[in-house]
Amino acid sequence: MSRARLLGLVIAVALAAGCAELDPQVGALREDASVAGTDAGDGGDAGDGADAGHAGDAGDAARISFARDLRPLMNRLSTDATGHGCRACHYSTEPSHPALDDIGLDLATLGALRRGGATSGARIVVAGDPAASILVQKLEGTYAIGARMPRDGPAYWSADDIAKVKRWIAEGALGADDE
Ligand code: HEC
Repeated sequence: MSRARLLGLVIAVALAAGCAELDPQVGALREDASVAGTDAGDGGDAGDGADAGHAGDAGDAARISFARDLRPLMNRLSTDATGHGCRACHYSTEPSHPALDDIGLDLATLGALRRGGATSGARIVVAGDPAASILVQKLEGTYAIGARMPRDGPAYWSADDIAKVKRWIAEGALGADDE
């Protein structure tokens, strides 16, 4: 049977079945399309719970969360033998923040972190590219400018902890500005 004839038959059957049956079908298709459109437009919300649920529970559980997995590492004191944090020098929320004064890098929130410092700027975190991210280079001590971070180390961050930072960046460096 030719395509044209097949199409004619389908339309004939649909008409015979009456508009009542045709309309819901069209409606359903429209709804699908608009749902897909909404999802694509929602890209900026990828970090929130509703969208994470969309992505599937397994994927979400494995994904690094800035607030849950990285913030506690950054909050560590400069006496912590597992690795010093950044709080002693880079938090605008602390009474003293010599590194914020010196290089302009505020690490108190993720939004501030993303703005970077005087030499890093937006390259501090290059979403999807851990090696190009100056945050990683500073933690590993490979950045051309300045010292390895935390600047008062050792103790520096363990390879495992730095790997978490790299994974977070590889996964798109997601998270809300206030994390
Ligand atoms: C003892 C104070 C101190 C601590 C703790 C510290 N920093 Fe720094 N940080 C500095 C100073 C001072 C500079 C500027 C000089 C340099 O780059 O060595 C700097 C620079 C940086 C830069 C480069 C910014 C730019 O634009 O050039 C990054 C990135 C950075 N720190 C990340 C961190 C991270 C992440 C932590 C926590 C793991 C941390 N620092 C802990 C003092 C500190």
